[in-house]
Amino acid sequence: MRALQIIVCGISLAAASYSATAFDYFQPLPRQVPVPADNLITKAKIELGKQLFFDPRLSRDGTHSCNTCHNVLAGGEDGRSASLGANGQTTRRNAPTLWNIGFQTVLFWDGRSKSLEEQFTQHVLDAHITGYTNEAALLTRLRAIPGYVGAFRRVFKEEITLAGLAKAVAAFERTLVTPNSRFDRYMRGEKNALNAQELRGKEEFRTVECLACHFGVNFAGPAPGPALGMGDGFYELFPNHPGSEYDASHHLTDDLGVYEYDRDPAHKRLWRVPPLRNIALSAPYFHNGSAATLEEAVRIMAKVQLRKDLSEQQVADIVAFLKTLTGELPVITLPRLPVTEGFGVYE
Ligand code: HEC
Ligand code: HEC
Repeated sequence: MRALQIIVCGISLAAASYSATAFDYFQPLPRQVPVPADNLITKAKIELGKQLFFDPRLSRDGTHSCNTCHNVLAGGEDGRSASLGANGQTTRRNAPTLWNIGFQTVLFWDGRSKSLEEQFTQHVLDAHITGYTNEAALLTRLRAIPGYVGAFRRVFKEEITLAGLAKAVAAFERTLVTPNSRFDRYMRGEKNALNAQELRGKEEFRTVECLACHFGVNFAGPAPGPALGMGDGFYELFPNHPGSEYDASHHLTDDLGVYEYDRDPAHKRLWRVPPLRNIALSAPYFHNGSAATLEEAVRIMAKVQLRKDLSEQQVADIVAFLKTLTGELPVITLPRLPVTEGFGVYE
């Protein structure tokens, strides 16, 4: 088990440092997604990754592609509190959006995965997600599709491997960027891009101290760079102040986050601070999808993270601000998938 690097921002620290530091907690989306040196992006690799992303043969019974639960032809997820997996059971957690996922330093709600490549290899062999439980079955399936065999030879100069699949899909995922939100346009100097209520909401996001945890390019803590390397996570407790009525009504302490996989009692209720870009498009909210609307999520966040009761006006203002984080969704055309005569998914 890898050592968990935990950076806890600390509310008081953040409150003290807003005015004085050079670090700007509000940051526009960078134009470039960080790309690891061992998985450089090429057009052919992205195309192959895109085919795989949309191919339901990546699930054992042929019912699910990645896009089923992370619908990048729409808002980037499936709109459900939990997804229906390829094994017919609902997943334990909510499917996160994949927009701007390339800016995340760790993956999954509990940050248990260090890179998009690693995330893929865990996810595609998760029985609750794809129905596959072993690598050999997946590889045998895909190696029977000549179109993929040829594409792998062209892109990776080798036969189909799990590592190659992960690299191709990760390369495609790094293209899922939504630039030019109104917030970004404001940050780049267009002072009229936000109206009075949105600006008020932005200020409240700071003064209420949401910004103590949700800052940086994805509003998910330090961006990849000097402060936080790829593979290092930014975690916080949720609920930070247990004991409110929401623990029971929204089942906030049923799933204990990081503790669930590393069993370290110190990590109970620890979660990755999640990104907030395009948040208006990814209802319902929280790891268990228990908050139906953004208003509800904001009110609960203030209460359980900061022990604050927001007025209706504050909630409306902060929600208005959060809606300015919706970027331009890229046009994505469906790829043609390689076909095979006589191929059936049923064994
Ligand atoms: C059955 C629905 C389902 C399918 C199919 C599915 N996913 Fe997911 N995905 C989820 C859920 C649920 C999570 C969150 C699980 C968790 O955090 O424990 C998730 C998490 C992720 C994450 C991490 C997101 C983040 O914010 O850290 C990525 C990346 C991802 N999936 C990519 C993929 C790819 C690529 C495929 C295709 C191989 C795929 N998913 C197929 C449901 C699905
Ligand atoms: C102490 C750190 C902290 C503070 C302060 C905080 N958050 Fe969060 N926020 C988190 C964590 C951790 C989660 C993930 C919760 C989970 O696992 O379901 C989260 C989740 C969210 C979500 C749901 C994300 C999703 O994809 O479903 C929203 C919306 C949100 N926060 C907004 C806010 C707002 C608005 C404020 C200020 C009122 C705020 N947060 C204050 C840490 C914090």
